[in-house]
Amino acid sequence: MAKKIVTKRSWAEPFKIKMVELLKMTTPEHRLKAISSAGYNTFLLRSEDVYIDLLTDSGTNAMSDRQWAGLMLGDEAYAGSRNYYHLETAVKKFYGYKYLVPTHQGRGAENILSKCLIKEGDIIPGNMYFTTTRLHQELAGGIFEDVIIDEAHDSTNLHPFKGNIDLNKVEALIKKHGASKIPYICVATTVNMAGGQPISLENLKALRKLTLKHGIKIILDMTRVAENAYFIQQREKGYANKSIAAIVKETCSLTDGATMSAKKDALVNIGGFLAVNDKKVFEEARNMVVIYEGLHTYGGLAGRDLEAMAIGIEESLSDDHMAARVGQVIYLGEKLIDAGIPIVQPIGGHGIFIDAKRFLPHVKQAQFPAQALAAAIYTDSGVRTMERGVVSAGRKANGENYFPKLELVRLTIPRRVYTQAHMDVITESIEHVYSIRKKIKGLQMVYEPKYLRFFQARFKPL
Ligand code: F0G
Repeated sequence: MAKKIVTKRSWAEPFKIKMVELLKMTTPEHRLKAISSAGYNTFLLRSEDVYIDLLTDSGTNAMSDRQWAGLMLGDEAYAGSRNYYHLETAVKKFYGYKYLVPTHQGRGAENILSKCLIKEGDIIPGNMYFTTTRLHQELAGGIFEDVIIDEAHDSTNLHPFKGNIDLNKVEALIKKHGASKIPYICVATTVNMAGGQPISLENLKALRKLTLKHGIKIILDMTRVAENAYFIQQREKGYANKSIAAIVKETCSLTDGATMSAKKDALVNIGGFLAVNDKKVFEEARNMVVIYEGLHTYGGLAGRDLEAMAIGIEESLSDDHMAARVGQVIYLGEKLIDAGIPIVQPIGGHGIFIDAKRFLPHVKQAQFPAQALAAAIYTDSGVRTMERGVVSAGRKANGENYFPKLELVRLTIPRRVYTQAHMDVITESIEHVYSIRKKIKGLQMVYEPKYLRFFQARFKPL
């Protein structure tokens, strides 16, 4: 008998596990009590009551042994810590920006950037809003305008670069307001609220051309720039043989500066920065960081945090790391698609986004379907997800709710934390909840904080 030739070769993560964190297993009764005392908001659960935590990929990464060793090299001097210089070298070498201002996390950088660049009444175009980014723009007197392509608002559209910017929308804003009213365009990589969708380099290059013509800056939200580079490597013509590191460097080279939440791509639990090429902006930002974060060589972080970030930046740019990181997200997404679960497609970089409008068509958007679905998934299995729909979108300046087209539940995958077996358990839970979806009811909001309400709002079942 002829021997069977095996052609399929599996791959696995490019690391092994050195230490584990034990989890508490809970009963459905326990979880029902927990979610009800959390006001049906997964942000208000105690992490102890969670089995698999997919709330966010922010600060939830597992650091490597090299990063943990780096913590011991923390130089906790108030000024001029050696770890600051290590981070500065890494930012210059891997991202190419000239000047660095460390901040405690991404929103610290957004605050300083917005205060430095935005004047009352300015317009800030961006490829879809992000909660903290838009709020800091508004608090500085700016008005956010969404210029992402229309395809991004459709969870079934298979466009390979749904993070792309519609240049016609940008041109229309320039025509309407004048370039002098637009201090910069905020470009996010793997657009979070669109489902982790990438922007292509072709699109960014075209935007660069347009902005140079009008003297408008591009500021990158580079929070997930390496994940964006992975999609460029896989999908964009001419980039299949380029490394993630080279694509990231090219991406940054097309912009004037960036805000970074290092809690995502850069594989740390806390940290961020603002990086710019313009010396004048740098000098103002470096002065301002002293007011809001701390001295310009630590920006609200300990020396050891700066060291872990410098090491994490380098690790995040390895092709093997990124293939496994996004590979795990795609593994989960494909299982859910096979099970018939309505999710945002193409599968994004940092998580799976369930389309709650299609999952719970009987719940009106004003009754918070994504919030209700996140609570139901937690109750079923202890898997914690988060709402990215009408609650996250908040209210306009005139008090009206934003009703975003996308009403999503995000299953965000922390980096280097969970195994394939965890992905299987998650799929089984979602499948079960889908089978009983008709029983899930909407919610009523009973407490609403003024800013970023999704973090602390409370609900009760209708
Ligand atoms: N920009 C993007 C695209 C983000 O996803 C985040 C955070 C920030 C900026 C702000 O950074 O949290 O360090 O202050 N996103 C987290 C999330 C909170 O769960 O998506 P931060």
